[in-house]
Amino acid sequence: MQGCPRGNRPVRWNQGRVQFGDFSGRPEAGCVEGFSCNVKTASMLRYWTAGESHGKALVALISGFPSGVPLQTAPIDAELRRRQGGYGRGGRQRIEQDRVELLSGTWRGTTLGSPIALAIPNRDDKIERMEDIDRPRPGHGDLSGAMKYLAPIRAILERASARETAARVAVGALAQQLLAAFGIVAFGYVVAVGPIEIAAQPGTLAQQRARRDASEVYSLNPDQDAEVKALVDQCQKAGDTLGGVVEVRVEGVPFGLGSHAQWDEKLDGRLAQAVMSIQAIKGVEIGLGFEAARRRGSEVHDPIRFDPDQVSSPNLGFVRPTNHAGGLEAGMSNGQPIVLRAAMKPISTLARPLESVNLRTRQPESAAYERSDVCAVPAASVIVENVVAFEVARALVDKFGGDSLVEMQARWRLFGELAAEHGRAGRAES
Ligand SMILES: Cc1cc2nc3c(=O)[nH]c(=O)nc-3n(C[C@H](O)[C@H](O)[C@H](O)COP(=O)(O)O)c2cc1C
Repeated sequence: MQGCPRGNRPVRWNQGRVQFGDFSGRPEAGCVEGFSCNVKTASMLRYWTAGESHGKALVALISGFPSGVPLQTAPIDAELRRRQGGYGRGGRQRIEQDRVELLSGTWRGTTLGSPIALAIPNRDDKIERMEDIDRPRPGHGDLSGAMKYLAPIRAILERASARETAARVAVGALAQQLLAAFGIVAFGYVVAVGPIEIAAQPGTLAQQRARRDASEVYSLNPDQDAEVKALVDQCQKAGDTLGGVVEVRVEGVPFGLGSHAQWDEKLDGRLAQAVMSIQAIKGVEIGLGFEAARRRGSEVHDPIRFDPDQVSSPNLGFVRPTNHAGGLEAGMSNGQPIVLRAAMKPISTLARPLESVNLRTRQPESAAYERSDVCAVPAASVIVENVVAFEVARALVDKFGGDSLVEMQARWRLFGELAAEHGRAGRAES
């Protein structure tokens, strides 16, 4: 065993197993023979998107994705199809048939560790032929964007449009393939549409997935579809729109994603920012969320128990009878599933438009109308699921190092073994 350049006593890596050395102090995670020191840097995995709603394509560039991850486009296309579906969507979804094209960063179906570029071509590519609009639509960026950029409204709405979320869904669906290599699964569904609350049904993840996929509103209770669809139809007839609430659960999350140490490393904060940035999302709750403010501490915080039968699960045996914290305490994952809800406002463009002002004349006129959805809450559940998945993958890469999948998995196993032993009196070291 060689000495560690940082002065830590190393543990030994032997045939894929961690062996604890003969030392008195505690080893640092990542201080393993043959592996570089786990020096923390700024978040390594990130992405950008570009593209207009009626431009040539939506594109994304993902940087910091580890090498050696087998990638398939079929699961990405499946998520893109789900984003286009759900009861209440408008005519655009009948025109587009979203499919991802991977432009770089893979070789023979496996990631290279180099930047991944992807594109989702637009069939409705007609931006150059489109007219400007002069009556800003309340609830859109039309007025503020036109003023900020001293630009036509068309220049703003083309980019502000939720069509951009196709790129975000593709990025998240790609990240889900990294998460799958660690047994982590993100699962999103609708829990309310307008005033209708949709009761969740108990069951395994597979049972819940089957229910959600049988529901036209992507809820866990297809029996309530008829009630929701009737409300959407009623709103459409009235020239009005609807919002709702979606929930995402992430199962299999280990301890320690995110950090309490710095404000921008807190995973709850990162999730909130990422989800809040989705078009039309106006509220984010983790765990009990706003309900926690109405309860006493004894009815909110999740007691800690130890169950030796669960030491090999992500909670390492530290079970909680409730999960009101939604899997996050002090910005770190606590071994419980992450549970997040997001509130979507009703679609802004109304077939019976609200009052507005003509920008040319400054005279009162009705807001402009462009082809639009009546309710896109089911689609939002797909977007939030994939945006959350990306943030969890980002935190996973931060925690376990990110050059290759093999290295990440080795560190994951090492961390699991260190954490399982951590704090035990008379810890056995062999
Ligand atoms: C999946 C999805 C579909 C949407 N479809 C429409 C639509 O058809 N018409 C519309 O006016 N707004 C739609 N929106 C909402 C607008 O994109 C959004 O309200 C607008 O860009 C202003 O941003 P903000 O609501 O975040 O402030 C949709 C949002 C999502 C998430």
